[in-house]
Amino acid sequence: MMRKFPKNFLWGGAVAANQVEGAFEVDGKGWAITDIVKRVAPEERKQLKLPFPTSREVATAVADRNDKLYPKRYGIDFYHRYKEDIALFKELGFTALRVSIAWSRIFPRGDELEPNEAGLLFYDKLFAELSQNGMQPVVTLSHYEMPLHLSQVYGGWTNRKVVDFFARFAGTVIRRYQDKVKYWITFNEINSILMSPFISAGVLRDQVAEKDLLAAQFQAAHHQFVASAKAVEICHRVIPDGKIGCMVVGMINYPNSCHPEDVLAALQDQRKTLFFTDVQARGHYPAYMARLFAENGIVIEKEPGDDALLQANLVDFISLSYYMSTVSARPETAGEQSPGNLFTGLKNPYLNASDWGWQIDPTGLRTLLNMLYDRYEKALFIVENGLGAFDTVEKDGNIHDNYRIEYLKQHIQQMKQAVIDGVELIGYTVWGPIDLISFSTSEMSKRYGFIYVDQDDDGSGTLQRSRKDSFYWYQKVIASNGETV
Ligand code: BG6
Repeated sequence: MMRKFPKNFLWGGAVAANQVEGAFEVDGKGWAITDIVKRVAPEERKQLKLPFPTSREVATAVADRNDKLYPKRYGIDFYHRYKEDIALFKELGFTALRVSIAWSRIFPRGDELEPNEAGLLFYDKLFAELSQNGMQPVVTLSHYEMPLHLSQVYGGWTNRKVVDFFARFAGTVIRRYQDKVKYWITFNEINSILMSPFISAGVLRDQVAEKDLLAAQFQAAHHQFVASAKAVEICHRVIPDGKIGCMVVGMINYPNSCHPEDVLAALQDQRKTLFFTDVQARGHYPAYMARLFAENGIVIEKEPGDDALLQANLVDFISLSYYMSTVSARPETAGEQSPGNLFTGLKNPYLNASDWGWQIDPTGLRTLLNMLYDRYEKALFIVENGLGAFDTVEKDGNIHDNYRIEYLKQHIQQMKQAVIDGVELIGYTVWGPIDLISFSTSEMSKRYGFIYVDQDDDGSGTLQRSRKDSFYWYQKVIASNGETV
């Protein structure tokens, strides 16, 4: 018999605290690294560079109280409107909502011994609301939002001490919400650390000499692996029926041609993702990293017990975001580049691209799911997928977003094929089910939602929520457990 989506398949959406909550100084929240990120000007969006500020630039941004320039300070006011938004998610039929806990609400500076009770209370209420509305919370412990103090004073994840601060945070929230939260994710897109030292690891430009940066990024990654293993250990001990997973940018790297060196280049690029899942799903550094480390003079500083800890605390599932694929080629190859928020590569002549130039590749999702399942035989969870696009509100208030429906439909169809192929897939949460602040550009006009939010790039608007055409379409998809796609 043809396999189908399992009965308890998790259908829903995914957001991150720093992109929706706003209320950045409310109830004792401390500054997070995302609170100092300025909106990218439209003319700079094509040549996107993720922020990598110096300590001085951070201090300047903290002193700049023109908050409208820093959209993650105000988000879409989910902190105060979460009930209204959850009611809409319920109407969509969600059985899961992926959210993150803002670390700086719980430990405002990150290095305190005691948590901030007001911050904990917010998530008590949020998770209770989800449960009353029939949704499983899927909770990311770290979604690009570490307390800024840890970055400024400790050098972010390059500092071993941050492992303990994170373990205290993870232990606090896992224990506090043990009855309400059964699905946990450690680090959002952990492989992004190689592209984005500040947002992914809290490292400031003047804290590391340029020649040492790569080594620092791998050292920070090691600390995140150890921190992640500690969170896995706590979760398994505290919540016997809980599940905890790792999360990567789900990237598939095609060779530019069948030239053997293009194929080799694609394999090497693919390992920029697989290295991270290898460590967290198999419990040790893969053999291929030894050569890369040796050739780059990188020596990972490990503490006694680190290797055993990684081996003993494997993740239960692998979760991924998936937006696009890239093309890899041998170094001397010239060609038009194709953008993305983290990974870039050559332009693929067989694919169309989004308004932001990201190459749309539904079949790549099926290939990637198969590749990951073949390699690990562990449950997979797509925790982000979606189309960032410009939407037009018609005179009558309708928003006809057929392009979004088409994108999602094609991806769900391929995901279904992967299930038929034999992949164990436990859920699908669409990125940004409600319009939110973009991660890479902090703009509002790059919309992913089924639900429109009346807010402009400059922060003006009523914040009123309304349903797009895709809202009614996804509702039907969920109601049929993916059969009407
Ligand atoms: C992922 C992130 O990289 O992509 C999300 O986990 C992000 O936080 C999403 O929002 C889409 O990227 P962007 O830059 O379009 O918001």
